[in-house]
Amino acid sequence: MIHDSIAVIDFGGQYAHLIANRVRRLHVLAEIRQPEDPIEMFRAYKGIIISGSPSFSSFGEDATYTKAIYDLSTPIIGFCFGHQELAKHYGGKVVHGGKEWGHTDLHICAGSPVFEGLGKTEQVWMSHFDSVVEVGPDFREIGYSKLGASGDEHRYAAIASEKLRRYGFQFHPEVDDTIHGDAMIRNFVIDVCGCRPTWTMGNYVDEQVRRIRERVGNESVFLLASGGVDSTVTAKLLGMALGPERLHLLHVDNGLMRKDESRKVLEMFRAAGLDRNLHFVDAADDFLASLKGLIDPEKKRLAIGNTFVTVFEREARRLGISDHLLGQGTIYPDTIETGGTKRADTIKTHHNRVPLIEEMIKRGRVIEPLAELYKVEVRELGERLSLSHELIWKHPFPGPGLGVRLLCSNGSPDTTDFDRIAPEVKKAAARFGLAAEVLPIRSVGVKADLRSYEHPVMLSGTAAWGTVLEAAGTIFRDVNGINRCIWNLSDGTPSRFVPLAAEVTRERLDLLREADHLVMEGLRLHGIYDDVWQCPTVLVPLSIDGCGRELVIVRPIRSERAMTAAPARIPEALLTDLRAGILALPGISGLCLDVTSKPPGTIEWE
Ligand code: XMP
Repeated sequence: MIHDSIAVIDFGGQYAHLIANRVRRLHVLAEIRQPEDPIEMFRAYKGIIISGSPSFSSFGEDATYTKAIYDLSTPIIGFCFGHQELAKHYGGKVVHGGKEWGHTDLHICAGSPVFEGLGKTEQVWMSHFDSVVEVGPDFREIGYSKLGASGDEHRYAAIASEKLRRYGFQFHPEVDDTIHGDAMIRNFVIDVCGCRPTWTMGNYVDEQVRRIRERVGNESVFLLASGGVDSTVTAKLLGMALGPERLHLLHVDNGLMRKDESRKVLEMFRAAGLDRNLHFVDAADDFLASLKGLIDPEKKRLAIGNTFVTVFEREARRLGISDHLLGQGTIYPDTIETGGTKRADTIKTHHNRVPLIEEMIKRGRVIEPLAELYKVEVRELGERLSLSHELIWKHPFPGPGLGVRLLCSNGSPDTTDFDRIAPEVKKAAARFGLAAEVLPIRSVGVKADLRSYEHPVMLSGTAAWGTVLEAAGTIFRDVNGINRCIWNLSDGTPSRFVPLAAEVTRERLDLLREADHLVMEGLRLHGIYDDVWQCPTVLVPLSIDGCGRELVIVRPIRSERAMTAAPARIPEALLTDLRAGILALPGISGLCLDVTSKPPGTIEWE
């Protein structure tokens, strides 16, 4: 089936993905397009949405993108930056100023199909510095904004040319804070563009089964099955399409799995009836050997990715199936985050996009039936395929596993810029009654879509949860060079931190596995496993106050798509359990809770 679809032009940040998700919820396929994509790539869409941008301004600079989209008769709508660009293109004027941020009232002052069914005043969410102050000849204002009864009026918050089928919203309809944003997007997608809502998981199953059969022909597929939601849903789909004979599943214990994970995964595949050609290999030694001596996070990631391929090739030869296609459970955001978004720096290399796999993709030897789906859609698909609740709602676990949660160090402290940062951090934290220390290590973060590799701050002291989050937020805002805050759950106010020379070893992995197990069991026992989206436990080789032992950090988050995340609150009773359990592990002397949102921190530490 050819679906009616919408192109979302991605000017960076999270906006484009949020918009695409909103459109897909209407059962219309939305695809992310890059601003420079050639015009041919836009022709088949029934509508185009130009996203907002965290880093571009429509004023004073000329953004480069395929402006030939404006020559198409396809309906176009722009949000925020997209609104300003569209207004400018058609003869309007944009100035620097008229900043609005947060909730604002939109006053709808003229009828338009995009506002069909809405009230006269709507709560919308704004985040802009530049403003449209004039529109071109074919356009008119259909809404202005005003904060409360006494606020200033901001003109041209929404503009339209019904003749050209061009629309612009200064606000962001894709965020929840725009109460009827969904209705506005629906009006554009369904009524203005005339898209038929055929993008349903039921259709997706039928289509994929057909596409897999066409693609695979008489060949067979070999799938690396980690046991996570993505690869299991992939296995189920491939199994449906090809039958059990032509699907070979290989579960690799890379030594970087959670405690008992491989045993549970094999049991789960058996229960799901996917065990006809289920192979298992314990390759922990291969992975440990490839990680030997590596400290740098990207090198570790690359070593793990390459070892997966080496092990896969070796096992395929051993099992006599080396000419098979390689199946992968890659999902849509995985294909976007690694340089897929041109204006985003490589935030980190996803292991299913390492060079060796890229090369196999080029040769057409890789099949990725979920590559068009977001996580929520994969879960919906899993439900449709009758996979168990436990599996579908299992926390996502990264391909490189505990490898990216086991920090390594050459033992030398990194105190770059501490003279400037430390006093600023202490001053900001003191306002909230907390002590703060900058740690002489670094972790990965993401700021305005660029990768950051900066110092974490440890906050100590007693304070309410909200206060700790506020302190962290203040530090991120006020102090350059900090992308993460952790809250000390151990006793005292530590002040001396020395990195310990440490690499990836079986002993350290076993220690991390125990700590992680305590956290996972704790979440289940306290009934909050399903409320928390993901909860990495991280082992950091950092000796506190000369104790010579390591630090454990627990990172519970709430998220929808992992593109953004907020720290999740853990009940006091569970914190007490974790203190008792984790601090009693041999080799551990500190326990902290990561209280960082994404951005500025990423979910994983590396
Ligand atoms: P970050 O750390 O970038 O993570 O906020 C976003 C989501 O991606 C997962 N993640 C990975 N998954 N291979 C994977 O399969 C990887 O290399 C990888 N790195 C991060 C992470 O757990 C989170 O869900």
